[in-house]
Amino acid sequence: MSVIHILKGDEPLAGHFPPLLFNVVYCSRATSGVDHAAVNRILESARLFNPAHGITGLLVFGSGIFFQWIEGPRKNVARLMSTIHADPRHENVVLLSEFEESRERLFPDWDMELVAAADIRDVLVDARNDAEDEKNAAVLTLMIEQLDSGQLSELSRA
Ligand SMILES: Cc1cc2nc3c(=O)[nH]c(=O)nc-3n(C[C@H](O)[C@H](O)[C@H](O)COP(=O)(O)O)c2cc1C
Repeated sequence: MSVIHILKGDEPLAGHFPPLLFNVVYCSRATSGVDHAAVNRILESARLFNPAHGITGLLVFGSGIFFQWIEGPRKNVARLMSTIHADPRHENVVLLSEFEESRERLFPDWDMELVAAADIRDVLVDARNDAEDEKNAAVLTLMIEQLDSGQLSELSRA
C-alpha cells in the first residue's frame, strides 16, 4: 500500500485493509464545438477539484467521444457525477458500470489523467500487469474485454 493512500483525504489509514471505493465508468458524446482546448479546461477543473475530494481516474477523449473512469468515496463521486451529467459539453451519457468495493485504487496518482484513445488499451493492460490487488486485475480485465468486444468501439477506432 503506497504512501499516496495515506494522504488521500477521507479514507481510512492504509496498512490494514483497502479503502471502500465507489467507482463509475461512463461514455458520452461531446457536444459540437468541444475540442482539445475545451478538454484541457475540463482537466484544469478536475485537477483542482478531484484531489481535494479523494477522487482519481482517467478521461479518454477521441472521435468526439468521452470515456471516463472515476473512483473515490461514494458521496464525493456521486456528487461529481451529477455535476458532470449536467455539463453541456457532452450529451448521451451512458453509464457502463457503477460499483463499490474495498480495494486499492486503479490509478492512485492520477487526479484525472487524459489518455489518448489510441493508448487506452496499453494503459489498461499495463495497469493490469502491475495490479497487485486481484480485484483490480479483474476490473481491468473486464474493461479490456469491453474494449475488445466493441462495446467501446468508437474509442478503439479513434
Ligand atoms: C466529460 C467530462 C468530464 C469531467 N470530469 C470532471 C472531473 O473529473 N472533475 C471535475 O471537477 N470536473 C469534471 N468535469 C467538469 C464538471 O462538469 C464541472 O464543469 C466542474 O466540476 C466545475 O463545476 P462548476 O461549474 O459547478 O463549478 C467534467 C466535465 C466533462 C464534460
